[in-house]
Amino acid sequence: MTNTPPSAASTTSPLPHSPGGDVVKVGVVGLGYLGAVHAACMAELGHEVVGFDIDERKLAALQQGRAPFFEPGLPELLARVTGGEADGSITFTTDVADLKSCEVVFVCVGTPQRKGELAADTTYVQAAFESLADVMAGPALLVGKSTVPVGTAARLADVLADRAPDLELAWNPEFLREGHAVTDTLTPDRFVLGVLSERAESQLRRVYARPIAAGTPVLVADYATAELVKTAANAFLATKISFINAMAEVCEAAGGDVKVLADAIGHDDRIGRKFLNAGVGFGGGCLPKDIRAFMARAGELGADQALTFLREVDSINMRRRAKVVDLAREACGGSFIGRKIAVLGAAFKPHSDDVRDSPAISIAAQARLQGADVVVTDPEAVANAQRLWGDLTYTEDTDEALRGADVVLLLTEWPQYVGLDPTHVASLTRGRQVIDGRNVLDAAPWRAAGFTYRALGRPNA
Ligand SMILES: NC(=O)c1ccc[n+]([C@@H]2O[C@H](COP(=O)([O-])OP(=O)(O)OC[C@H]3O[C@@H](n4cnc5c(N)ncnc54)[C@H](O)[C@@H]3O)[C@@H](O)[C@H]2O)c1
Repeated sequence: MTNTPPSAASTTSPLPHSPGGDVVKVGVVGLGYLGAVHAACMAELGHEVVGFDIDERKLAALQQGRAPFFEPGLPELLARVTGGEADGSITFTTDVADLKSCEVVFVCVGTPQRKGELAADTTYVQAAFESLADVMAGPALLVGKSTVPVGTAARLADVLADRAPDLELAWNPEFLREGHAVTDTLTPDRFVLGVLSERAESQLRRVYARPIAAGTPVLVADYATAELVKTAANAFLATKISFINAMAEVCEAAGGDVKVLADAIGHDDRIGRKFLNAGVGFGGGCLPKDIRAFMARAGELGADQALTFLREVDSINMRRRAKVVDLAREACGGSFIGRKIAVLGAAFKPHSDDVRDSPAISIAAQARLQGADVVVTDPEAVANAQRLWGDLTYTEDTDEALRGADVVLLLTEWPQYVGLDPTHVASLTRGRQVIDGRNVLDAAPWRAAGFTYRALGRPNA
């Protein structure tokens, strides 16, 4: 299914003004996919925001009011909050000391997978809190938003108690989805506040006064539960995707159709249809590394058996990528040598330019390694993909990618690829083979245009 990006108009907050117009001086550390959106949204909610990052390229873009990455609605929101049209204000800095007089500081830095291990690398989080401990001028609430292994907040609270007893810690995990990040931040499903004191809770309620007044539920928890809510949510979503992809494997063996199966089981509201789209599986900067870090942490806690199923979730996910490479090789007649593959999509999902652990890139790279001439196209993610995987050929022009291709792989379900006219595609390609890695194309017109249509978990005929 294709997600619709929020319209530019939706970036104007539909929320009521905070009772009493309470303005909080807010700091945001780390201005990536999470932090840049969070900072801009806090200004939209009426606060006085200072955003800090160590990446000067990102800072330069933000200081000019430009989004440093593609996220629908963010450019319009940045224009509002930097142009004085919002109730709040925002400035950006590369000096952490500029946050010293903030009342509440959100830490939104990355927690990537450690090289060669399943565990998360929390050194950026640790460094961010330590630098805040050194510069904050008076009492303040430091709020972790990064996704961390359970136990991190308690450890950081000890560090703060030693080094800066005026600083209190809260953990407030983030659930935004890239492609919907602005609306997800302004009007989230829920707030989870991991706090130790009423004062910390009431500070966060001040910051989020407008969405709370508009009805967003608030759940108050201890640190460990707040940290676990985020990893449990991602583990559940990953499991749901791998479940339907496991059913796709069974359908392939038994001759069933996983799309009909998903529709049928999805009508049961205990199951639900969302996240039941079989295909090349999940990727991105969150789900893969979060389930691995969750397993690693459970092992450290002596609870590894509780999460061994996530190993299977991860394996099913990775097997789907290998399956598409096999299908593509088959479509090439058994070998990639001398064949051109057009890969539609590089981002891990549509409406994003994020290529971290993207199934599309991993499949494209594998076909390339096996000898194919691979041309990757994407409306937003080509620059990011090129920076990380320079070995592939890229173009932003879909027709150019398709021209002369033996096999077409649809790997990211951007609407422009879902809506391609198969007759037009046939006028460009050399071969008549299409592999629908997201189960989003209507097979009939592709077959009518002469293509052999293959999809995951679906009959070939
Ligand atoms: N991207 C999402 O959709 C999303 C959603 C929910 C939670 N999260 C979590 O949020 C965290 C950040 O994710 P992201 O996708 O925004 O990552 P990102 O890599 O896009 O951004 C991280 C930013 O932190 C900056 N940074 C690193 N160390 C710093 C320091 N000491 N001081 C200041 N800035 C520093 C980096 O320069 C970078 O700009 C991760 O823990 C992630 O799991 C992400």
